[in-house]
Amino acid sequence: MKTSIILAALAATALSAPAPAPRPQDVDFSSLEFSSDDLSTGPEFGATKESIPVTKPATSDIIEDIKEDPATPIKKLRRDIKAILKRVPGDCAPQPINNGPQFINLEPTPWQEAVEAAYPPTNPSTLGPYKKVFDGLRGSVNQIGYRGLTTIHAYDINACKTLCDKKAQCLGFNFYVERDPSLDPGDLCPNPSIITNYKCTLWSFPFLAGAADNIGQTRRQFKVVIAASVGYVKPYDASNLANFTSYGQNLYGSINAPLLDGENSYLGVKSYPNADVNVDYFEPAVCAAACDAQTAYNSRHHASTPCQYKACNFFDAYVVLKDGKAQGLTCTLYTWTWDDSYAVNGGQTRSDGVFKVANSYTYTNSRLPAPPYINTCPV
Ligand SMILES: *[C@@H]1O[C@H](CO)[C@@H](O)[C@H](O)[C@H]1NC(C)=O
Repeated sequence: MKTSIILAALAATALSAPAPAPRPQDVDFSSLEFSSDDLSTGPEFGATKESIPVTKPATSDIIEDIKEDPATPIKKLRRDIKAILKRVPGDCAPQPINNGPQFINLEPTPWQEAVEAAYPPTNPSTLGPYKKVFDGLRGSVNQIGYRGLTTIHAYDINACKTLCDKKAQCLGFNFYVERDPSLDPGDLCPNPSIITNYKCTLWSFPFLAGAADNIGQTRRQFKVVIAASVGYVKPYDASNLANFTSYGQNLYGSINAPLLDGENSYLGVKSYPNADVNVDYFEPAVCAAACDAQTAYNSRHHASTPCQYKACNFFDAYVVLKDGKAQGLTCTLYTWTWDDSYAVNGGQTRSDGVFKVANSYTYTNSRLPAPPYINTCPV
């Protein structure tokens, strides 16, 4: 279905487009500054159940963060890598028993082979609105947007899907089998016997196979390993926002706008989480707040064109994935509404990674009049 929409869009462009217009907008995905110091990227080994609330940003922080015209070179922000939480040294406490199928007394590789023989990578390619993005991997998802973990008592991807269905902001789930210790490994029990756990993690950003790179950990002498890991993502359910109308569709890529009568309609890009605003779920309303804040900023800083400033009337909210991992929420802001045929930027290959665009949704200012330029001089 998606292909036919794209083809239709391409055909429409081919018929109506004049000579290719220059595309002055060049969002270099590798230069987007994301920083997620305070945000969790996945479960700790040993976790058997947890639920992580979303980090809802304050509108005042989004407004405060519009400190400059983002079309100017993006300033370098502080970027600290979040230290991976280390568990306290083990005390040999018994770990919760999982009464699902067990694969006991197996060393890591034979354990993985036995699990893979029992649960081959033949999970369905779709589950309702969810699309399978990987199967049969030996790693679990590790990226921002972690929404919690539930231990299930069987290899049951539908149980995991149901948890995502019920969880607000859930856009994907990862179900996997983990070789865990029966006791918290410590001085007196450096290599306990095995529990096989069936784990379901929920995510509020989409991912691809590259995100499943958490391949285990050695705790004392016990090797935690993973097998039969499968990932599914579903589209965002877009609806209208206050003052912005949604176009609804998950577009092929992000918008790449040409000049409009020689003027640049592109107002710049904002990425979240950043040093000032924490956002760890896909929330186009954040882009709407940024769009309005950009208009307000421009109205206060229009000295070079005293009677005109550019208003934000349209935005594209999307996710940039780097090597399969969501980097966060990206918003590109425009003075002018562009239709789906301009959603052509599906990704980029840069020296530091392969960047892909997912969940691209556009919104237009529904307040009228919403001209691309607003005259601020008294008549
Ligand atoms: C919608 O626009 C009106 C008029 O500009 C404004 O007063 C109101 O705060 C806006 N609503 C939101 C949620 O931003």
